[in-house]
Amino acid sequence: MTSYKELGLVNTKELFKKAVSGGYALPAYNFNNMEQMQSIIQACVETKSPVILQVSSGARKYANQNILKNMARGAVEYAHELGYDIPIVLHLDHGDSFELCKDCIETGFSSVMIDGSHLSYDENVALTKKVCEFAHSQKDYVTVEGELGVLAGVEDDVSSEHSHYTQPSEVIDFVGKTKVDSLAISIGTSHGRAKFKPEQCTRDANGILIPPPLRFDILEEIEKKIPGFPIVLHGSSSVPIEYVHMIEKYGGKLTDSVGIPEEQLRKAAKSAVCKINIDSDGRLAMTALVRKVLVEKPDEFDPRKWLGPARDELKKLYSHKNQNVLGSAGQA
Ligand code: G3H
Ligand code: 13P
Ligand code: ZN
Repeated sequence: MTSYKELGLVNTKELFKKAVSGGYALPAYNFNNMEQMQSIIQACVETKSPVILQVSSGARKYANQNILKNMARGAVEYAHELGYDIPIVLHLDHGDSFELCKDCIETGFSSVMIDGSHLSYDENVALTKKVCEFAHSQKDYVTVEGELGVLAGVEDDVSSEHSHYTQPSEVIDFVGKTKVDSLAISIGTSHGRAKFKPEQCTRDANGILIPPPLRFDILEEIEKKIPGFPIVLHGSSSVPIEYVHMIEKYGGKLTDSVGIPEEQLRKAAKSAVCKINIDSDGRLAMTALVRKVLVEKPDEFDPRKWLGPARDELKKLYSHKNQNVLGSAGQA
């Protein structure tokens, strides 16, 4: 049993309070390997941004939970070595059972998500409440994110063909009964690099897909019901077309890619949305650079020579998000 405080980590409680009142959102970046972790920390130290390091069940299976936990400890020390101590949260992304959340809490995670969004409302309430009771009763309070509404697309082992927007009429009851610390909602975002079907979009003069706008009306209704309560947006990658083009130029094929435009995320970050989840954009940046280097230098076989440029690009991407989209730069 390790407490996150022993690892130098923090929970989301104070960070969310500051983010909601300051009108910005914390970056929640997924990581599975050392290069992703290093680039996240480099970017967040340089931009003086707090950060949430997210681990999905897929990441746990890929990299091993203990290794990831020790990488988070390493991330704290790395930030210190880079010259600026930023608040770092280690968060379970899309936990799907009480046992998984408990295991992560006992391993040293400072925050967990219990995603009961695929269950009936009453089952979601019961499961989320159970996780909150356990997390909140730890010697060091662990924060819990719940979810109401279903995002279209794939969420780890949970998949859904269609999205169901969060119903504002349910949020007061859900938050009151479960005692969650933050709430993920569905207002039109979805996971992955193809967030909308082409028939849901329009096209610009260059044939690039333009997605339908997020349902800010639903977000506003939710904010009226639970003023100042921390809201989370999943599926918030912008899917930069430059990376899609680079991947395709160097042999990839990513048909019908479309993400959430940055101006919509900037607007969301100024509201009660205080955590914005981004994974796919990092995957795109990394893949684009790896493909480029391997195609341009066919004799290269030292992984550092293609992972290094990918790591540099990731750092640029995360710095840009913190400074120009989320507004978290300068808040650490
Ligand atoms: O929400 C999903 C995240 O992008 C994690 O994806 O399950 O492939 O690690 P993953
Ligand atoms: P993206 O697929 O849009 O990056 O969303 C990631 C996410 O929501 C992780 O929980
Ligand atoms: Zn998600």
